[in-house]
Amino acid sequence: MSTDLFSPVTIGDIKLTNRMVMAPLTRNRADEHNAPHDINVTYYQQRATAGLIITEASQVSPEGVGYPGTPGIYSDEQVAGWKKITDVVHAEGGHIFIQLWFCGRVSHPDLLPDNQTPVAPTAIQPAGETVTFEGMKAFVTPRALEINEIPGIVAQYKHAAERAKQAGFDGIEVHAANGYLIDQFLRDGTNQRTDQYGGSVENRMRLLNEVLDAVTEVWPGNRIGVRLSPENSFNDMSDSDPSEHFGYFVSQLNVRNLAYLHILERDMMSKSVNVDYRDLRNRYNGLYMANSGYDKTRANTSLGNGDSDLVAFGVPFLANPDLVYRYQQDLVLNDADSDTFYGGTEHGYTDYPFFEKAVT
Ligand code: PHB
Repeated sequence: MSTDLFSPVTIGDIKLTNRMVMAPLTRNRADEHNAPHDINVTYYQQRATAGLIITEASQVSPEGVGYPGTPGIYSDEQVAGWKKITDVVHAEGGHIFIQLWFCGRVSHPDLLPDNQTPVAPTAIQPAGETVTFEGMKAFVTPRALEINEIPGIVAQYKHAAERAKQAGFDGIEVHAANGYLIDQFLRDGTNQRTDQYGGSVENRMRLLNEVLDAVTEVWPGNRIGVRLSPENSFNDMSDSDPSEHFGYFVSQLNVRNLAYLHILERDMMSKSVNVDYRDLRNRYNGLYMANSGYDKTRANTSLGNGDSDLVAFGVPFLANPDLVYRYQQDLVLNDADSDTFYGGTEHGYTDYPFFEKAVT
């Protein structure tokens, strides 16, 4: 029988019952201390039949924040909140990794301690506006990190990795995608440094490598995933040669025996695809997780062809807590309500019906 969404897979020593991954989804419903609370517990518990849940992006420190209402993984309160989530997911037989996040220039002084200026590899202002507590405001020009500040950023990832362990997670995903700090270093549109963190691909990858070295002191490689988005222009990102540069980054990750490599396989904004992801996948020796608007049919084709080992679903999981069951039984899906994606209450969060409930 060929591999499909419902065939089990082993990540290191973790046995997943299926290959359906709940993609990281920002929902902006943490409490006023950026800690997960009861509605978040319910939300993740409802989706625990996913083979693996990757949590919404969670900042590694107060300096890493980029949006209102996103959870962190640095304080005692946050660890306690996440522990309730990992406990219920495990009680349901599921597995859960937390995505570690530092937003860098995709932030605003209104959101940062002492109204500090967001940091980035280079002082390049992103085009557009960002969300603050007072509504949308223009991005500011970030401050370029001094080279002697970088160890402090790496230490924040290590601390968050330790906190993730205390919170009972099965592993961590280092968010190196979508225009946040590590991605700002990886891509040459945002990294114009002339020191050892800029210029060559080797230099641009240095921050990611240092973060991975640091978190590997806390977790074995096979409990660490990495997410990349070679051609995503979201957050005003660009790169002069994504195929070439990400081909290098991916091949460098091989030595680490990671849990998986998670790739956003398109531009989120235009939905266009200009990178050969099969080539990228072939350069990588470990488990490859594909993500980009897959449905059941496309996912099974990809898995069956060996183009991926796991497939992450975002919006379908958001709107269908029992997505695994619905795909198994070929049932109709709930529609997602985009008005309630970011922020708000239980509505559009924990009140999407399960199939059984929808027909009674
Ligand atoms: C978002 O808040 O829109 C967001 C957050 C993290 C991502 C992508 C999008 O990786």
